[in-house]
Amino acid sequence: MQSFLDGLRRILGPAGLITDPADMAPYLTDWRRMFSGTALAVLRPANTDQVSEAIRLCAQDGVAIVPQGGNTGLAGGATPMGPAPQVVLSLSRMTAIGTPDPIGLVIEAQAGAILQRVKEVAADCGRQLPISLAAEGSATIGGIIATNAGGVNVLRYGMARDFVLGLEVVLPDGTVVNGLKPLRKDNAGFDWKHLFIGSEGAFGIVTAALLRLVPATRHRSVALLAVQDLQAAIRLLGLFQDRIGETLSAFELISADALRLVETQCGLVAPVTGGNWFLLVEAVSSLDGLSAGVEATLETAFSTGWVQDGTLAATEQQAQALWALREHVTEAEARCGKSLKHDVSLPVWGMGDFLDSIQEGLAGMAPAARMNVFGHLGDGNLHVNVILGDTPAACATDITRLVHDQIATAGGSISAEHGLGQYRLEEWRRLTPEAVLDLCIGIKRAMDPKALMNPGKAILGPFSPR
Ligand code: FAD
Ligand code: MLT
Ligand code: ZN
Repeated sequence: MQSFLDGLRRILGPAGLITDPADMAPYLTDWRRMFSGTALAVLRPANTDQVSEAIRLCAQDGVAIVPQGGNTGLAGGATPMGPAPQVVLSLSRMTAIGTPDPIGLVIEAQAGAILQRVKEVAADCGRQLPISLAAEGSATIGGIIATNAGGVNVLRYGMARDFVLGLEVVLPDGTVVNGLKPLRKDNAGFDWKHLFIGSEGAFGIVTAALLRLVPATRHRSVALLAVQDLQAAIRLLGLFQDRIGETLSAFELISADALRLVETQCGLVAPVTGGNWFLLVEAVSSLDGLSAGVEATLETAFSTGWVQDGTLAATEQQAQALWALREHVTEAEARCGKSLKHDVSLPVWGMGDFLDSIQEGLAGMAPAARMNVFGHLGDGNLHVNVILGDTPAACATDITRLVHDQIATAGGSISAEHGLGQYRLEEWRRLTPEAVLDLCIGIKRAMDPKALMNPGKAILGPFSPR
């Protein structure tokens, strides 16, 4: 192994290789501190050529590679697992961001660029990259693409996939494939970039991306509304779609319990009370007249009786304060100790029955556990997290099976936006039809015949045989 490490040092230089256990530690545990693993070294290449050469050496010596961006993933995808000799390949030194093209609506960024920074660069020239999530101050472009991240603006703008015009990737044998063409239309052959979007590092390393921008909007209205039940929330979604549909950029759900956690754990105060559920509604537009449209819609909403209480932000500062309530839910949950994350999507009309059945099952199975429900109602994605409290750890599998079995019955997905990582791999295997498993494993074997990319994550391979 010493000659392998010497080879890596020659390729990456002293700044590009970490072998000291204390310095490696932050790269070997995930954001939730739920998973940890071991690695021979952490690689921090400075450019694509170094990524390529390092991967070539790993392939030659049979060492597996765990790609890592900002390490904010919620499925353990960036943490080494299992006994195979492996290295973590961090993109944290590859952070260059190109000058945006404001008319062609394109920006180029290296994979390690932080999402928030890319958004700021786009905003400086009046353009917008509308991928928004609470982790955007640490999450990287490579990680966002590799997880096909969602976030709070999906109902208007789509997921990360919808913003990727081109990719540069390094394959598991070290080959660099450059697809950085700023084209909206390109049907010349397979659109292979889609294999890498949402692949969770199982097919290769994303080293750079060309991202689609949209014109910046000049007006935004943000409201926090309290409603009694989910049916009222869904009816309101319909009302907003009818009245101001194309401007609706977020329609987020927060349970009263989740909001209370934000208040008690993070010290924030909600200006709205009453109701079992809260809705964070945002509309944006470049045209004048947005606030009049939102106000008129809110008046109708109150007159229907579906809204118990509510507030419309009068200033940008108030808008940000309302958003902070939503953005702190994950942090508040993390401060409550161990929790199980269930990141599900299902048709909106099935959500009420689905949550009732989980609540009922949980009461019998784990009375000390508390549900922490919130999410992206506007695009059908709920986070049905369970804070374990004094629940015996041995109950975790049964709780997760309860949620996922109900989701399967409702025709939903067990991973709407966070991916499988190592967290949901077994559940995906349990609930996925044989033909789909075979197809996915076949693609994995074709892309990564030596199974060196991110073993044990995202797709089953020789390291976790079926
Ligand atoms: P990492 O965590 O480092 O890696 C994630 C996965 O991508 C791993 O499998 C890793 O191997 C792979 N990977 C990383 N970089 C590369 C690369 N360059 N090439 C190939 N593979 C790579 N997610 C949402 O979708 N929506 C949300 O609303 C949301 N909110 C969040 C809020 C909080 C507070 C936190 C902590 C997380 C949230 N997440 C959310 C999850 C997370 O932020 C996203 O999954 C994000 O896309 C991960 O980016 P990252 O750079 O941190 O990736
Ligand atoms: C969010 O929407 O805030 C995250 O994706 C959810 C989570 O922390 O479970
Ligand atoms: Zn989410």
